[in-house]
Amino acid sequence: MTAHSGRKSEKSRGKINASTVQADFNDLTAVLHYTKAAHELGLWASERLMIDRHFPNRSASLLELGCGAGRVSIAMWSLGYSRLTGIDFAEQLIDQAKALAAERGATSLVFRHADATSLPADLSREPFEGVLFLFNGLMQIPGRDNRRIALREARRVCKVGSPLLFTTHDREDSRIERSLWRLESTRWSMGMQDSRLVEFGDRYFEDEAGRTFMHLPTRTEILEDLEATGWTHVFDEMRRRLAKESKPVHDFSDECRFWVATA
Ligand SMILES: C[S@@+](CC[C@H](N)C(=O)[O-])C[C@H]1O[C@@H](n2cnc3c(N)ncnc32)[C@H](O)[C@@H]1O
Repeated sequence: MTAHSGRKSEKSRGKINASTVQADFNDLTAVLHYTKAAHELGLWASERLMIDRHFPNRSASLLELGCGAGRVSIAMWSLGYSRLTGIDFAEQLIDQAKALAAERGATSLVFRHADATSLPADLSREPFEGVLFLFNGLMQIPGRDNRRIALREARRVCKVGSPLLFTTHDREDSRIERSLWRLESTRWSMGMQDSRLVEFGDRYFEDEAGRTFMHLPTRTEILEDLEATGWTHVFDEMRRRLAKESKPVHDFSDECRFWVATA
């Protein structure tokens, strides 16, 4: 994560918003990155463990928010989950998810273009029995109020008692992170932060996955957000304490915290 200096060229640009994030995920670099992962990587060991533990009923109707090119939904389908709907606001990624599902014969899966902060009305007609928002997708929504809207939306379209499984970073998890964030805090107090950022905890950087906006929360912040949006916290734990991941998974993703809440 590199792009958080207060350089003048950055200062003159506007704030990151949903359109910035949507354009970044529709960009060819990101599309190739997430499509390759959907084709080749599948579920992480920790995701598999948490899905087995909290979504034991393979015929339950489930909603995956921010499904991207279908990495999670299509891998779940291959485990026997047949009633999955994946939504994403990046049209190019949804096209890739549909193509991979067709190639694998996963005809029962539904992939739709939709925004997690404003879910289509018809999604609540037959409430879902579980929701997933994996690989930190919720934290790629700029603005805490908007992330809370997405949490409320997820709750609106599922049955009472349904589980929500999602991941975030945790900016207080390691000593190094804590000291880097102390420096960032000094930058903010001096007005030297990247002015495109919306809130303290935000990052906007570029790597092999393309340009990425990410909010890195504290554990307390997520507990507050769950409570404020009507979710009941059930469980949270850092990924490294749940499972040992393979090198390809480490190459694709960094440490995160898994969260489970119920509606
Ligand atoms: C890190 S990617 C993960 C993609 C996929 N779940 C995976 O693990 O390979 C996060 C995804 O969330 C989607 N996303 C971010 N904000 C969204 C929103 N407001 N509505 C719908 N999708 C969103 C992005 O387009 C992107 O596909």
